[in-house]
Amino acid sequence: MPFRNAAARRLVGLVPWLCLLTLALAGCSPEQYPQTALLPLSDFARIGDDIQDQTIYWAVGVFVLVEGALLYAIFRFRGRPDDPEPSQVHGNTTVEIIWTVIPALILAAIAVPTVKGIFQSNTSPGPDALRIEVVGHQWWWEFRYPEAGVVTANELVIPAGRTVELIQHSADVVHSFWPPRFAGKRDVFPGRETRLWFKADSTGLYPGQCAEFCGIQHARMAFHIRARSPEEFDAWLARMQTLGAPAPGPGTAAPAADSLRTASAGATLRQQGGAPADSAAAPADPLFAKGEQLFKTKGCIGCHSLQAKGAPTGLIGPNLANVGARGYIAAGWLKNTDENLEKWIQNPQALKKGVLMPNLGVTAEEAQALRAYLRAHN
Ligand code: CUA
Repeated sequence: MPFRNAAARRLVGLVPWLCLLTLALAGCSPEQYPQTALLPLSDFARIGDDIQDQTIYWAVGVFVLVEGALLYAIFRFRGRPDDPEPSQVHGNTTVEIIWTVIPALILAAIAVPTVKGIFQSNTSPGPDALRIEVVGHQWWWEFRYPEAGVVTANELVIPAGRTVELIQHSADVVHSFWPPRFAGKRDVFPGRETRLWFKADSTGLYPGQCAEFCGIQHARMAFHIRARSPEEFDAWLARMQTLGAPAPGPGTAAPAADSLRTASAGATLRQQGGAPADSAAAPADPLFAKGEQLFKTKGCIGCHSLQAKGAPTGLIGPNLANVGARGYIAAGWLKNTDENLEKWIQNPQALKKGVLMPNLGVTAEEAQALRAYLRAHN
């Protein structure tokens, strides 16, 4: 009797902890944290999610049956103080065969959709897919659209409803590209190509993450996928092609899409073709002009291109042609607010220690000007 009372007391003592655990698990709601594979938004992501669901159904079934039988046996056949010695048995071939065969069948039932899913997710999506090259860098992502000749960074823009095929490699160490709402992880290697495809169901901005430890800022090597409607995507790509496109012939009027708007002053700046084209513009915003000058004199231009099309290859910094329009900076780590952008320009090492971008001795006023200049690149 004293044993049972102690056990009961221990069980009652667990109640507050169980309540706390319930609360903590309730905090795991995927609605609040969109970087989840549990809310699939593409055909590829659903393959993985379906396999996971099937595995969980089997696991729950096994758990309920085994724990149910265990609890039943504990209470139904529990020992009492005056019970005689139970009969001693050793081995039961029938039972052993049953508990070997049943799990083997369950594993086979899980293996069938798993193997099918592995083959499905490694097929080639066919010629209609939009091909995009993904290059992993310590610690940011480069995205190239070879057919359009456009390059961008850290925000992968894709058309919803059309399959995209990502052709991936790394510029330095092994990374892993993981857009959980859209697809599983795919490692990216230096000198070796890996591929990943998916078709996004809907538009929106969704986070992704490097999923292979790649150095001290691995955790801040994130990215976003911006899925747009096909029309918006085409317009975006066409616009990107004008950011740094070769100069139109003499006397050719610049297309309307060549204008840039500064966020700070609302000034419309005509951008002409050719390498960092803003020099030919007559900016209305004095901060813009100062920022443009600083971009060259502070050395930014040595690592970053402002051309989306025809950008020089081999630059070590992310392409900034449309940085003003991106949702985040510093590879998905900071929201792209004016305040964060200025902080980043002034002191990147304080925000993301170890990045290749050094502190360039930029003052607060200079950071404002650079921010205005970069914000206009949208
Ligand atoms: Cu790149 Cu972790």
